Amino acid sequence: MASFTGNSDRTTSGRAICNYEGTSYRAEFWDGHGREYEDLAERIALRRLLPPRGQRLVDIGAGFGRLADLYDGYEQVVLLDYATSGLREAQARLGRSGRFVYVAANIYEFPLAPGSIDTAVSVRVLHHLSDVPAALRAIALALRPGGTYVLEYANKRNLKAVARYLSRRQSWSPFTAEPYEFTKLNFDFHPAWMARELAQAGYRIDAGLAVSHFRQRLLKRLIPASSLAGLDGLIQRPAAALKLAPSIFLRGRTNGDGQANRRDAERALFACPTCRSQALVESESALVCSQCGAAWTISDGIYDFRRSDD
Ligand SMILES: C[S@@+](CC[C@H](N)C(=O)[O-])C[C@H]1O[C@@H](n2cnc3c(N)ncnc32)[C@H](O)[C@@H]1O
Ligand SMILES: [Zn+2]
Repeated sequence: MASFTGNSDRTTSGRAICNYEGTSYRAEFWDGHGREYEDLAERIALRRLLPPRGQRLVDIGAGFGRLADLYDGYEQVVLLDYATSGLREAQARLGRSGRFVYVAANIYEFPLAPGSIDTAVSVRVLHHLSDVPAALRAIALALRPGGTYVLEYANKRNLKAVARYLSRRQSWSPFTAEPYEFTKLNFDFHPAWMARELAQAGYRIDAGLAVSHFRQRLLKRLIPASSLAGLDGLIQRPAAALKLAPSIFLRGRTNGDGQANRRDAERALFACPTCRSQALVESESALVCSQCGAAWTISDGIYDFRRSDD
């Protein structure tokens, strides 16, 4: 996956964050950068794996809300990201209807209440995390029993890396299990490693797709993005067994009966990242935790759960 390293690294609870604050990911990575094919191929995959309807979906590491139009079947959509600059872009486009909830937070200091989410999504996010197992556990806890997590990860054992390694043009092996950090806070993951970590975090994988097989400059120049994405769509499912594409999408489910409970509509959304209490009192400018006294600001429609020492 092409790298985008953001501005700087920060440390919270000892874990570095790939900080996109103040960058324009959209302008610097997507718009006018010849990535229409990747965008379309990812949309095909996400549409296939996403439960089409539900009460509450959270897009984790949502950025500027690139994929938000795919969430039309959800009553409430939570866009969560560490960078407020991306969330502001999303807000400018998607508005403040109340259907969209904008949350600035660190994945490692997750502010969502246990069982509060029906569906979680993360696309192009796990590759920035040095502690994926911790993130997978936090997301599993926020999902209701039988909830769904659709995730994307950058595949270490992709065809290009395999060919380069076998022809001795690349020193690192794509076949070993451990994550490969190709640039600071940009990791590729081996499918077997990811499968094991997902199982350990309590997910049952029920579908997978291999995506973006034709991410190649010459092909992208010769063939229109929509045709190339259509071709990718044709092989995403059959090629999933081989997992040689640069990008892998999986659908995981947490244990449970898979039925949303009608009463769940009133579920609390937030839990205090400091003490985990759900007793948060909301005013116009803050959410104050009744248990530990922490005050989390609400600024221009963005709930901010980042710690002041971040
Ligand atoms: C490559 S962008 C992907 C954005 C969006 N998912 C998309 O596909 O267009 C990665 C996003 O992950 C966010 N991110 C990285 N580390 C994070 C963390 N520890 N907590 C919350 N967000 C994080 C970044 O701020 C950035 O917006
Ligand atoms: Zn608290």
